[in-house]
Amino acid sequence: MTKLRNYPTKDPVLVTCGLPYASGQMHIGHLRTYVPADVFVRLLKKMQVDVAFVCGSDTHGTPVLTAAEAAGVSPKELYTKYHQFYLETFPKLHINFDNYGTTNDPENVTRTIQIVKELQKNGYVYPKDLDSPYCDNEGRSLPDRYVRGECPYCHADARGDECDQGCGRYLEPGEILNPRCAICGSPTRTVTRTHYYFKLSSFEEFLKKYLNDVDGTKIAKNYALGWVNEGLKDWCITRDLDWGIKYPGDESLTLYVWVDAPIHYMSSTEQWAKKIKKPDEWKKFWLPGNGRLVHFIGQDIVYHHCLFWPAMLKGSNYNLPFAIVASGMVKIRNHNFSRSRGYVVWILDDYLNRGLDPDYLRYYMVSFTGHTRDLDFSFTAFAEKVNTELVGTIGNFIYRTLHFTKNHFGSIPKGKFDEKLQKEVENSIETIIDAVNEYELKKVSDEILRLASVGNEYFQANQPWALVKEDKARCGDVLFNAVALVKAITIFIDAIMPNTAETIWKQLGFKGPEVHGLPLEAALEPLKVGTKIINPQPVISKIDDDLLESLKKIIDNRIKAAEKAESGEEPVEEKEMITFDDFKKLDLRAGKILTCERVPKKDKLLHLEVDIGTEKRSIITGLADQYEPEELIGMTALFLTNLEPKKIGGIESHGMIIAVEKGDQPGRWLPVKLDDVPPGSKAA
Ligand code: MSP
Ligand code: ZN
Repeated sequence: MTKLRNYPTKDPVLVTCGLPYASGQMHIGHLRTYVPADVFVRLLKKMQVDVAFVCGSDTHGTPVLTAAEAAGVSPKELYTKYHQFYLETFPKLHINFDNYGTTNDPENVTRTIQIVKELQKNGYVYPKDLDSPYCDNEGRSLPDRYVRGECPYCHADARGDECDQGCGRYLEPGEILNPRCAICGSPTRTVTRTHYYFKLSSFEEFLKKYLNDVDGTKIAKNYALGWVNEGLKDWCITRDLDWGIKYPGDESLTLYVWVDAPIHYMSSTEQWAKKIKKPDEWKKFWLPGNGRLVHFIGQDIVYHHCLFWPAMLKGSNYNLPFAIVASGMVKIRNHNFSRSRGYVVWILDDYLNRGLDPDYLRYYMVSFTGHTRDLDFSFTAFAEKVNTELVGTIGNFIYRTLHFTKNHFGSIPKGKFDEKLQKEVENSIETIIDAVNEYELKKVSDEILRLASVGNEYFQANQPWALVKEDKARCGDVLFNAVALVKAITIFIDAIMPNTAETIWKQLGFKGPEVHGLPLEAALEPLKVGTKIINPQPVISKIDDDLLESLKKIIDNRIKAAEKAESGEEPVEEKEMITFDDFKKLDLRAGKILTCERVPKKDKLLHLEVDIGTEKRSIITGLADQYEPEELIGMTALFLTNLEPKKIGGIESHGMIIAVEKGDQPGRWLPVKLDDVPPGSKAA
């Protein structure tokens, strides 16, 4: 039976990925969206499809706002920092977007306003009074992540806009039961004000039909259809917040982050079109027509992508997503990701900065389990895959073939492509195309592994090491065929492990990056006789026991530290790794405390006047419950002197005394005293 396939296609395809919130580092959960999408794009290119790949940083909403408040910086400063981080980190993982912007870019603001105005014009937006929680203690209204309470559906503890610990459902403002302030924990009071609603309910029939037809993964479709069948509530698209895109029509309100975030898929495409100097090129994807939009996301944001987003596009007359590809969630020891409970693995600190190869992680993410299943991450399983599949099967076949050929022939010997092996490669191409059509990229890695096993068996069965002595021509033919399989594997694995493929391609005597431009069919042409093999080396190295042990400790220690913190014991705070240049920014010096006074009405604060060599500084410290002012006067201690000035208890504080908390006496702080050191002496 021949199935109808969606790919390859002559229609242009735009692939997007769920935008990371620019509020924190990249973690291994994110890769479940980005790696398969990148592999998918690379395979489409190998099928000669016209494809563009865009993403960007999500900079609005309470995720960014709460993180900025916690860091004591403006939301703009916070997102700029993390946007830069994502810009630099994606290429390190060989994830190459054609454009990577932010939701705060002018193109996105303009496009968002255009779409909202279009929805207003078409009668899909109306005002309604909303009762929402307000915290008297904090003196602010509490949208989304600023409020916690009970999920009205599954009764788990949930945050304002999402049942994050329970059923995963999107929650409308005002829906959460027994709300309390997420900042101070106190119960909230209700305030009423006018908000703007999108008539999602009027799209029920449209969505039922659309979701039946849409391509992608079952989990996206079926969950969303389930929600539509339960009946849809209208969607509140404004928030009482300062940070975000202003609501056109009432500038005192801000659009909900989930309005402007998916619109960046469109504005990022516009940015890309400008960049390639074909400013209208974005239209071939977004204006009604044959362009195909394929969204890669995680299961946690199916509601937004399968309901809000198609309805918004429909209501403003844009093209609709062709496919929504949702992955299962990445977990750690079967726990949902939780920074505070230690269930997280960071891409930079825990992986890349340890010198580990990004290609191995890409392979693991794709091959470990089916795309729609949850993936319980462990370094043990990771090492097992690297050692048995990548080193033991794939790497072994490549190395033994190239090494043996180089040793005995120097270049590719004369031979004829064996029909059976050729058939195997044809089958591999078919399987890979099926995998793309099913959005199931594990099938690709499984197929590569299978082809490498075929290669190993072929090598073993023909015993070239014996043949080379008995029948050199026959031996040459075997190696010609083995190298043909190496070439095929290299072209296929290029989609998953692009850097490794380059290395193999160089050993085959070509320019490494050229392998990225080869179509799948190139795997059917064996290499030319006489092609020189260059310096064959194993391309994949084992994860040894010591390394594995140290990797496992990362998660062990993090979870233990979090448990300790939970049980009231002192948290062993884990900090981000910094560079030497970061460290050099600190101006640490000896300072002599000249005067010390209590700050009126502030039990904890002491006001110091400190001689730091070059000048006298006013510095506030929170040691008043532990020291009498007399104990500190005359003391020389270590100070951080280039901390930005800040008013504390109404007095300017410019600098900070460095103190150590006693490990056996939590809460007891000892200044780092320096004897016989003149003020101004620098520490490094
Ligand atoms: N900013 C939103 C997406 C807006 S799209 C218009 C968001 N950001 S996120 O940083 O939380 O997630 C970015 C991507 O990573 C999303 O596709 C999300 O589904 C995915 N994942 C984040 N954590 C994940 C896991 N633990 N497991 C699998 N995927 C997860 O959501
Ligand atoms: Zn719930």
